[in-house]
Amino acid sequence: MSGDQVDVSSGKLQNLTLNEEVEESVFFQTYSRLETHMDLLKDTARTMAYRDAIEQNRQLFEGKVVLDVGCGMGILSLFAAKAGASKVIGVENADIAALASQIVKDNGKENVVNVVQGLIEEVELPDGIQQVDIIVSEWMGNALYMEGMLHSVLFARDKWLRPGGLVLPNVANLWIAGACDPHRSLNNDFWNNVEGFDMSSVKIQVSHEAVVDCVASQNVLTSDYLVHTTRLESAPNTPIKFRSMFELEVLRTGIIHSMILYFDVAFLGGQTETPVTLSTSPHAPWTHWEQTVLHLDNPLYVQAKERIIGGFGMFPSSENSRCMNFELGIRSKGAKGQASQFKYFNSSQKL
Ligand SMILES: C[S@@+](CC[C@H](N)C(=O)[O-])C[C@H]1O[C@@H](n2cnc3c(N)ncnc32)[C@H](O)[C@@H]1O
Repeated sequence: MSGDQVDVSSGKLQNLTLNEEVEESVFFQTYSRLETHMDLLKDTARTMAYRDAIEQNRQLFEGKVVLDVGCGMGILSLFAAKAGASKVIGVENADIAALASQIVKDNGKENVVNVVQGLIEEVELPDGIQQVDIIVSEWMGNALYMEGMLHSVLFARDKWLRPGGLVLPNVANLWIAGACDPHRSLNNDFWNNVEGFDMSSVKIQVSHEAVVDCVASQNVLTSDYLVHTTRLESAPNTPIKFRSMFELEVLRTGIIHSMILYFDVAFLGGQTETPVTLSTSPHAPWTHWEQTVLHLDNPLYVQAKERIIGGFGMFPSSENSRCMNFELGIRSKGAKGQASQFKYFNSSQKL
């Protein structure tokens, strides 16, 4: 789906081709599966960050109207109800909404939580509600912006959030760092001989794919650099397109095979001294997002204290606006002289 066919601020999908409609339907079918939600709920770093953020900001939730954008099985709505919200509306387009309603009843919260099935861009809120005090949502995708769900949250903010209202999480940061991959050449050589067949022609295509993988903390060789921030209470609802320069310090001598992307989000509430954050850094506890890995064609042989300078860009894919493409340029000045490289990456995965 091209970025031009989605007017993100109105939330309208315009002139979708059959293919694009199928992609949207596959997206919500994935979220209709219990297994998908079980994986999310079992991601304790994720789920507990939301729980703690809501519990620690109880005073902000008491007596308030809360909108949960993409409520899934209703966990964030239930947290908000438990924290004293007077009304919670959980909006969910996937068929899992029916289970969410049941779960709300099973937990005796049906007088507070109302699950509405439909697209946030199309639903009316129940009981004539025109304004909400707080929006909560777990919208983040791989490399933060995959899945494009941020636009649905910002759409809801622009339509229903009262002036001065709260969006949780309210800050999202995307980071880049350099890492080594001890299995890189093994993985690359795999294509040379697959059960006796030469599949090496796919190597070029594979090398342009951004890969979601778990990067061990000890394989990160550089400092990290903040390449993009979204402040959810004020960011304009426009397509995510940016380029950022970055500068990394090499912390340990070694070989950098890839640049890695990860994000964190912060729940900045009222009076809590230490706001809750949820980080997907390799140095933080594991999450289902893991890290997004951009493999370099030419590994960098680096020594501690060297600096790597580069540029990173991110743009919606022209084939599917829920996917993002990346560009990466790197210049390093090391013992083996100066090396520059530039590369595009695409991400075909939807989740
Ligand atoms: C990552 S899941 C989070 C589910 C739940 N809030 C949780 O934390 O476990 C995102 C949910 O948002 C729903 N969703 C995405 N875009 C939506 C939209 N535009 N309107 C309604 N629901 C949407 C998806 O179907 C999915 O269930």
